[in-house]
Amino acid sequence: VLVDKGEHKHFMHKEIHEQPASLARVFGSLIDLQKGRLSGDLDKVDFSGVRRVVLVACGTAYYAASVAKYWFEEFADLPVELDVASEFRYRSTPLRDDDMAIFVSQSGETADTLAAVRHVKGRVRAVLAVVNVPTSSIAREADHVLEILAGPEIGVASTKAYVGQLALLAALALKAGKDNGLVGTDAETSLAVAMAALPRLVSETLSLEPMVQQVAATMVSARDTLFLGRGVLAPLAFEAALKLKEISYIHAEGYAAGELKHGPIALIDEHVPVIVFASSGPLFEKTISNVQEVIARGARVTLITDPQGAVLAKGIGDHMLIVPAVREELAPFVHSIVAQLLAYHVAVLKGTDVDQPRNLAKSVTVE
Ligand code: G6P
Repeated sequence: VLVDKGEHKHFMHKEIHEQPASLARVFGSLIDLQKGRLSGDLDKVDFSGVRRVVLVACGTAYYAASVAKYWFEEFADLPVELDVASEFRYRSTPLRDDDMAIFVSQSGETADTLAAVRHVKGRVRAVLAVVNVPTSSIAREADHVLEILAGPEIGVASTKAYVGQLALLAALALKAGKDNGLVGTDAETSLAVAMAALPRLVSETLSLEPMVQQVAATMVSARDTLFLGRGVLAPLAFEAALKLKEISYIHAEGYAAGELKHGPIALIDEHVPVIVFASSGPLFEKTISNVQEVIARGARVTLITDPQGAVLAKGIGDHMLIVPAVREELAPFVHSIVAQLLAYHVAVLKGTDVDQPRNLAKSVTVE
């Protein structure tokens, strides 16, 4: 297939804007919208009797898997063994026949992830491949293939594939909860309906682009940046930092907000922009107290929150970006759009090669 940029300046920009459509496609393959129930591709996976989930990936796919850890715990009460493939494959992790092993890879060709698949094959209940390329090596070696249906992703920095991975993994965690009896019909329907609304909410989030661009302009000359989040938004902060460093070459660290005082706070001064992802919910006040700590050290803070969080935050920080209200567990879907737009616009303003950043490859097929 020949893919072009259309009206967009970069593939990355095009792919960011394709997400309402790509997300609708993947949720359409996982959810029966009429009935508000899981369906389709997930029927082939059975978590009954599974005692643990093993989640392995590299790069951005690893950060998608890191969000999924929270979902498997929350929806299915399952312990999760989570690691990057280059570590996991060499560890002597005990493996059991009641483990479900899930490998996440956009390309399905990442060498370490493929080696990790081979490492567990035959030693666990089943090997699931969450991929964008169903003909890939990882897909061929897995027991079951789950497609994120993102369409070809050309930009080296993953955007729509990451969000597609989140969609697949959220629905998969819900399926796990259903299979082990923790999620009843009402809970299934309420989450399935909330997931089905995400393409529209992502589309609304994209309309924040002009405001994100203004924040980006304040970050172009930064040397170091810090991204913070808690709960399900902690791994989102890691991904946001990865995205920025990959394409703008600005040093970015992602941290769980509660870990701030165990290190990164030593680096904070007025030259370090701090980007905070926070949903209104039980953890909101804790995150705001972290925000106050960095503000006291002169940091310029951008808070990304929902309408209720905006009210509670009472104008704290230098910039606020208000994403649509969404169930707390699903907040990464809307926050990730802001993270992508922010990285993209900082890179464009810096004039770096957005689609082909130096030293990086779309798919790492060497070890
Ligand atoms: C490279 C790419 C990343 C990607 C990672 C894993 O580092 O630049 O965008 O997240 O590989 O790739 P995979 O195809 O396994 O998801």
